[in-house]
Amino acid sequence: MGRKLSPEEQPWCIDKTTGKVVINKGVENVCIDKSTICFIDGFHSKLYYRGYSIEDLAAHSTYEEVVYLLLYDKLPTRRELTDFSGWMREERDIPREVVDLLCKIPRDVEPMEMLRTAVSFLGNLDPGRYDMSREGMVRKTIRLIAKIPTLIAYWHRIGLNRELVCPDPRLGHAENFLYMMHGERPDGFSARAMDVSFILYAEHEMNASAFTAVVIASTLSDYYSAIVGAIGALRGPLHGYANVEAMRQFDEIGSPENVEKWYKENILTGKKRVMGAGHRVYKTYDPRAKIFREYAKQFAERRGGKAKTYYEIANKLEELVMTQLCETKNICTNVDYWSGIVYYSLGIPVDLYCTLFAAARTIGWSAHILEYIAENRIIRPRLYYDGEVDKEYIPIDKRT
Ligand SMILES: CC(C)(COP(=O)(O)OP(=O)(O)OC[C@H]1O[C@@H](n2cnc3c(N)ncnc32)[C@H](O)[C@@H]1OP(=O)(O)O)[C@@H](O)C(=O)NCCC(=O)NCCS
Repeated sequence: MGRKLSPEEQPWCIDKTTGKVVINKGVENVCIDKSTICFIDGFHSKLYYRGYSIEDLAAHSTYEEVVYLLLYDKLPTRRELTDFSGWMREERDIPREVVDLLCKIPRDVEPMEMLRTAVSFLGNLDPGRYDMSREGMVRKTIRLIAKIPTLIAYWHRIGLNRELVCPDPRLGHAENFLYMMHGERPDGFSARAMDVSFILYAEHEMNASAFTAVVIASTLSDYYSAIVGAIGALRGPLHGYANVEAMRQFDEIGSPENVEKWYKENILTGKKRVMGAGHRVYKTYDPRAKIFREYAKQFAERRGGKAKTYYEIANKLEELVMTQLCETKNICTNVDYWSGIVYYSLGIPVDLYCTLFAAARTIGWSAHILEYIAENRIIRPRLYYDGEVDKEYIPIDKRT
């Protein structure tokens, strides 16, 4: 037997005003730094990147422009944007060794695991991998943002045993991605929907994956390690993988007529959570979900078929969430609820959806790494020790 510690022996856990132990489980509502990158107003459904509303950016910007904005804290002039997009286009090719690696990775791994491995290998091949200057970090950021869509499209086509489609420098970031996936240029509406999806997923403050990236960077580790760690965090179903799980949930429900029965059996009984619902910060409707929802609706009308069925299932389930879970627990549908239906309508297989989130979010992770290490302090929280100390050490032969 040992001895339990008193709270007074762990003063870092005690609130000075109340004298009580405070544990912020899940680091909820703990500010770790100041930032000028992103603001989420979770009570009024508002999201801003560098002060610009997500609605304005989704209506008027391109992903390339948003990347520039997040990196340089200003909207580019036309000339700056042309030069910047040109730089991104030049970086799209991936080395032959990485293509060979994609052919060797077992096909039954989750695409996020492929991405983790491939990004790590890209880091091994990057001659600037140890350059931690701001310029060096920006170069790596552009390199990676430009290459990740190529990794995803190549992985997709290798799996189908189809010839790889090289990046086309005449096309914008989103349009080029769909071109590399499908081997033909997308129509204007599809290209714009893909572009907007990249904008909506580009950044979201200090979420689990951004925090992972910043924790790693705060040890003065390297850029690629931080991004690989963030990919690992994003891959969980409570975070980025929710967009895959939401689609699997719609498949399980099967038809709009089955929504109520499924909800009763799975959600009301507490057996499952609605995937693509709930958020640590949003206590009202996620503004990104509203924009994705509108694209999903338009695709349902244009494409019909399964896109329409998915839309109808999602719509009906959302009604239940908004009238029941939202009323009682402030749980509303979020970005990952609707994005999958848009990706499905763009002909992209479900298992790739979290990798698209990662492709878009690499800029958010990078912006946070850059901002944090500019005035770095190693991140090192504490725990409240709830075990015993001073236990008697019994030699191994005397233990029962
Ligand atoms: C996002 C998420 C992880 C946030 O978690 P959190 O802030 O820690 O919230 P908690 O897990 O403490 O949940 C609070 C309450 O809401 C309930 N809840 C949370 N999300 C829910 C969901 N999607 N469906 C049903 N109930 C949910 C919990 O059961 C809990 O209820 P209780 O107080 O009766 O026990 C959580 O909402 C979730 O698991 N969502 C589904 C996955 C998802 O869509 N993730 C993407 C987020 S963008």
